[in-house]
Amino acid sequence: MNIGIIGTGYVGLVTGVSFASKGHMIRCVDVVEEKVEMISKGISPIYEEGLELLLKDVIAKGLFEVTLDFEYVVSNSDVVFICVGTPSLPDGSMSYEYVDNAAKEIAQVLRKQKKYKMIVVKSTCIPGTTISHVGPIIEKESGLKLGENFGLGMNPEFLREGVAINDFLYPDRVVIGVTDENAKNIMMQCYDGFLAPFVCVDPTSAEMIKYVANCFLATKISYFNEMANLAESFGADINEVVEAVGMDHRISEKFMKAGIGWGGSCFPKDMRALLHKSKEFGISSKILQAALDTNEVQPFEAVRLLKSVFQEERLEAKKIAVLGLAFKPNTDDMREAPSIPIIKLLLKEGAQVVATDPIAVTSAAKILSHQNLLYVKTPEEAIQNADACILVTEWSDYINLPPETFKENMKTPIIIDGRRVYNHQKFREKGIKYSGIGLGR
Ligand code: UDX
Repeated sequence: MNIGIIGTGYVGLVTGVSFASKGHMIRCVDVVEEKVEMISKGISPIYEEGLELLLKDVIAKGLFEVTLDFEYVVSNSDVVFICVGTPSLPDGSMSYEYVDNAAKEIAQVLRKQKKYKMIVVKSTCIPGTTISHVGPIIEKESGLKLGENFGLGMNPEFLREGVAINDFLYPDRVVIGVTDENAKNIMMQCYDGFLAPFVCVDPTSAEMIKYVANCFLATKISYFNEMANLAESFGADINEVVEAVGMDHRISEKFMKAGIGWGGSCFPKDMRALLHKSKEFGISSKILQAALDTNEVQPFEAVRLLKSVFQEERLEAKKIAVLGLAFKPNTDDMREAPSIPIIKLLLKEGAQVVATDPIAVTSAAKILSHQNLLYVKTPEEAIQNADACILVTEWSDYINLPPETFKENMKTPIIIDGRRVYNHQKFREKGIKYSGIGLGR
């Protein structure tokens, strides 16, 4: 099919390249010129495993184009996916700006074309957006009728950064939110050849499925982070606890790794947007609020553990190594990364911070700079002569570091394991002072 993609961010670019790899003809539009330049040359502006290879391949096959020309993309497509951002506003609510703009621009083209097109919202939108914003805007701006001259659908994404291509091509389910049979058939055609089950609902339920899934995952992590803090006070080990808890098939062992909290561009945004809406309805969600509050302070658990090892209140002039900056491994994305509040607190306490990350140093340096903050390339440089080290992001480069490396390079071998990736018995046997989230004395 001829598919148009509006917005070439994480969702748009991954969707476009993946659909093209299935044989569809993909035309993407973005407003950022340098992004369009890079992508048209087969260079991905985002760090995604396997994306660039696939991008080069589908461009070579003539199945993928990217342009600044909105009209060209919409007029040459049978189906148009809206994949623009829905960022948080300062009060936590979702911004409709980019989605509404896309709807208006699509309407302008439809008005000229008068050819039936399917419009699909893929951006994560507050439930009701497709029906109460996108549909009416297109009808009003084009003078056309929903259902007759254009179809409307909602197709949420469940892509994790770092494994987004895999998550797109092998989804657990494809959620189709439509208002009529014709729209449903067209959307199912887009996903022809995908092995996953289809779930067909109304557009508002489709939007809600995305929020409820994402907010559950974030809440589940916050729950296990709270249990980790309790486990430490009880003198238990959260890692042993979750291993057995996760064996209950109703719970599953996924997304219960206790640590220093969740970051990224989705969990925080979606939690705040849903909470904000619940307050507007006058039924403010206590559970979402609690999960957000827990996540807000969880990064500081790493600094609390550090202070209890030093038995000092201030970290004046201590040299602290920070291993990992990105909000999670296999990405350079620093959005709401726990490393940010941790480094800011260490600097506030007067520490000298030496931070490293395999790929996120460049993006971190743009948002975090300070005279007592030094960025280095390797973990060995970071821990060199350090008084202590905090493991913040569980990159495999760091997980595989043997205890000897810390013992030989550090002034005092003190490790705060923010993601519980090291074997505390082994490290302690080698004379390392090890503290970890959720590990009692
Ligand atoms: C998430 C959802 O997983 C995805 O379905 C949705 O489409 C977008 O948001 P993403 O934000 O890319 O994906 O990352 P994810 O792998 O889900 O991790 C999110 C955060 O949770 C990270 O900061 C990670 O460190 C943290 N996390 C994850 C935990 O702290 N413990 C866990 O067990 C899992």
